[in-house]
Amino acid sequence: MAEAAVLVSGGAGGLGAAAAEALAARGCAVAVADLDLDGAERVAEACRARVPASFAIGVDLSTAEGPARMVEAEADGLGGLDVLVQCAAAAPAEAFLAMTPEAWEAALLVNVRACALATAAAGRIMKAQGRGGRIVHVTSAAARMALPDYAAYAASKAAVDSLTRSAAVALAPWGISVTSLSPGMMDTPLQLRTEETFARLAGRSDLEAFRAERTARIPMGRRTDPAEMAAAIVWLALDAPAYMTAARLNVTGGLDKD
Ligand SMILES: NC(=O)c1ccc[n+]([C@@H]2O[C@H](COP(=O)([O-])OP(=O)(O)OC[C@H]3O[C@@H](n4cnc5c(N)ncnc54)[C@H](O)[C@@H]3O)[C@@H](O)[C@H]2O)c1
Repeated sequence: MAEAAVLVSGGAGGLGAAAAEALAARGCAVAVADLDLDGAERVAEACRARVPASFAIGVDLSTAEGPARMVEAEADGLGGLDVLVQCAAAAPAEAFLAMTPEAWEAALLVNVRACALATAAAGRIMKAQGRGGRIVHVTSAAARMALPDYAAYAASKAAVDSLTRSAAVALAPWGISVTSLSPGMMDTPLQLRTEETFARLAGRSDLEAFRAERTARIPMGRRTDPAEMAAAIVWLALDAPAYMTAARLNVTGGLDKD
């Protein structure tokens, strides 16, 4: 019997993949959902080495039906849902004065609408099961920062913070907690793409020096990595007091201090 039935969105790479594998290492059956089905299959394969029921789900979370379908596919495949971890994100970076509707659409649909719809779908299943549950949203220090070249992403993560509070209150009567993790800077594909754009918009061709300056602004003086952040997700998903809800956990080396 698995420790818990878990769904991780954005599980094909970066933090989502690390979280899926760390949860499987704790004995959870994990459904790994992502737009990148091949990547999700690879991560599910690694999870299966720990818990054989783990499997992959292909989903486009920018669609209207994708989020609820993802949750239903997980519940069908694993026979229930105890934990939802939402890592999937779109991270469009562009100059503020050249902003495009496409960037806003990507950030708002994937980071906000999909997160809300998946949380509601998970809440319906957890309520019907009657054994509580935990939902973890991944937010960002960006939600609290002035980032002119990252405005859509930053605004979308501020919306995730708001959603976490609303969802926590909506689902509390059934013993379902909703929390969020604000992760530190990790060198994932998302972060590397973003920093390349930031450097280009700043007129900098010395990408490594540019990145080193950004690292130096982190109070702890180093970046983190997906494995370190996955430990925080595992804690929220399995170990934190069940009474903890509507909380935002900052694990940013001091970057998210305000
Ligand atoms: N990397 C960082 O430094 C950092 C810092 C703060 C917050 N975060 C947050 O951590 C989370 C994980 O980010 P990451 O850095 O691991 O990024 P990543 O790009 O490595 O992973 C994001 C995943 O989301 C998936 N995805 C994107 N659009 C999708 C869609 N429409 N449908 C389904 N899946 C989709 C991608 O395929 C990818 O596997 C995100 O919520 C991000 O905002 C990252």
